[in-house]
Amino acid sequence: MTTTPLLEGRGLRKTYRMGRRTRVEALRGVDIRIDRGEMVAIMGPSGSGKSTLMHLLGLLHAPDVDGGSRPELRFDGRDMVTLGDGQRTRIRARSMGFVFQDFNLVPTLTAVENILLACDYAGVSGDAARRAATEALGLVGLEGRGGHRPTELSGGEQQRVAIARALVNRPSLVLADEPTGNLDSERSAEILALFRRANREHGQTIVLVTHDSEVGEACDRIVHMRDGRVRDAVVPTVREPIGVRVAAPAASAA
Ligand SMILES: Nc1ncnc2c1ncn2[C@@H]1O[C@H](COP(=O)(O)OP(=O)(O)OP(=O)(O)O)[C@@H](O)[C@H]1O
Ligand SMILES: [Mg+2]
Repeated sequence: MTTTPLLEGRGLRKTYRMGRRTRVEALRGVDIRIDRGEMVAIMGPSGSGKSTLMHLLGLLHAPDVDGGSRPELRFDGRDMVTLGDGQRTRIRARSMGFVFQDFNLVPTLTAVENILLACDYAGVSGDAARRAATEALGLVGLEGRGGHRPTELSGGEQQRVAIARALVNRPSLVLADEPTGNLDSERSAEILALFRRANREHGQTIVLVTHDSEVGEACDRIVHMRDGRVRDAVVPTVREPIGVRVAAPAASAA
């Protein structure tokens, strides 16, 4: 028996045209499949197309439909390419949470108001929304910072507000672009644990972009990208528990 993947893309291409002569082929035909309940890392060099792919998977941008075979993008078995803007927006608001690489917080709104906006888009308001927003701020360790505007928060704190906003509606799919990029290793481990809890306890599917191999190794699968293509997908080897690791000869004094 085969199960329908939560997210499936085939032949995804995206070319940016800048002026008449310059074209950047950010995605050159990506096939990707994300199963329900997976926690997947996307890794690859800067400029390899990771953010572009995330924007397509998160229905923020549409794949190119000209100049090659027709792209396919399915979420929960439904075709997203032919869907109208209104329906796409609704699916995104209710079923997806997106952490942008540059956070994308509304500068005139406080942290809690930024999170409440995501509740509002998903059709949750009033006390229920306030409770959920406060809980989400607590999850990322920012209780007490709800009244701050983005400019009154550090980069790492803004990133955590963006993560709280992505998680507040308990979306079935969380797409996070470098969610730990601005965090120190301790905070990074906490956020990773938070995603893992969301994944294990609530069955949320998580796709995150990372440059950090330790973050990648903590995921169920790593998809490697290069030059706008998926190079391979690997299951990270489970690291041996400390203590059974064989010490290197000579250098083992420490
Ligand atoms: N809006 C845009 N207009 C023109 N070119 C773009 C645009 N967005 C991205 N690109 C180009 O597309 C390519 C892929 O960019 P993308 O942001 O997807 O890379 P990335 O893998 O996320 O890199 P990083 O690790 O630095 O975030 C790059 O060459 C980039 O310069
Ligand atoms: Mg990027």
